[in-house]
Amino acid sequence: MGEDQSVRRDEKGALAERVTQLKRERGAVVLAHYYVPAETQRMADYVGDSFYLACLAKTLDAPTVVLCGVSFMAESVKLLSPARHVLMPEPAADCPMAHMVRREDVDRVRAEVPDLAVVAYVNTTAEVKRWADVCVTSSNAIKVVRKLPQENVLFIPDMNLGRYVAEQVPEKHVILNRGYCPTHNRIGLGEVEALEVAHPDALVLAHPECTREVLDEADFIGSTKQIIERIAAGEEREFIVLTVVGVAAEITRRTEGQDKRIFFPEPAPICPNMDMVTPEKLVACLENMSGEVALPEDPRRAVGPLERMLELAGR
Ligand code: 13P
Ligand code: SF4
Repeated sequence: MGEDQSVRRDEKGALAERVTQLKRERGAVVLAHYYVPAETQRMADYVGDSFYLACLAKTLDAPTVVLCGVSFMAESVKLLSPARHVLMPEPAADCPMAHMVRREDVDRVRAEVPDLAVVAYVNTTAEVKRWADVCVTSSNAIKVVRKLPQENVLFIPDMNLGRYVAEQVPEKHVILNRGYCPTHNRIGLGEVEALEVAHPDALVLAHPECTREVLDEADFIGSTKQIIERIAAGEEREFIVLTVVGVAAEITRRTEGQDKRIFFPEPAPICPNMDMVTPEKLVACLENMSGEVALPEDPRRAVGPLERMLELAGR
């Protein structure tokens, strides 16, 4: 090992020790999404997908939760457990898709379409959740939409997840909105086909935020957690993974000692906002107890759809 590498390893070790010490002193629990940098995930007490993190928030009894992820995740934790301090190491980390829906479009569809449920992907601001009847995550959207009493559904903001849900639940009439995740929407069919040619025996796993033509290539479609679990449990040895490369850390951990290989499109899909949540920012956040998330105005209206999701998804 070169001198530079060992210095870097010492620095990382010192940061990890500092986080452990600060967590104890502050009575804080650290949650992380699979898309934040691997070093940040390693410092967290719990790592998971959006649904897991939202459910977990309700069960913890620590006075402070630090959420290593984007704003909508921290906001969901705050909405579901308002008495807790919820901190973000990087408050500017925001999901662009969370804003990709207009109030007037929702109001217009509500006025025009009878027997309608407005279904908001959890990747939305608290303000957008206030316009909805129920929230969903990528891991429970099909289950929740299937259980809705309404025949018509306006799915906001993600058109790709909305279209996928519409195909899986044909008994519902699903109206789409034009939002999308810039990172997943950018994964092109050409890159996927090149991977399939190079690794013909590989299982193809995709996040439902990918485009329809990319999802058509997939053998398995699921949330980040579902993708990781499918790989860990699978008999296959090669996997083409069509989501943000951050999931590689947990896949590697879960498949240690197994002869499994994972491949991502080139260039590797990165969520620039999740990527901003570095270990250094986590340390600073715990040191200063900074980046506190405030409860939005009229929180009950935004909590309702989240609670309804937990009810319908069986939590
Ligand atoms: P998951 O719910 O699968 O963790 O996805 C969150 C997300 O932001 C995907 O881009
Ligand atoms: Fe938002 Fe896409 Fe990043 Fe997920 S990967 S947080 S949907 S921008």
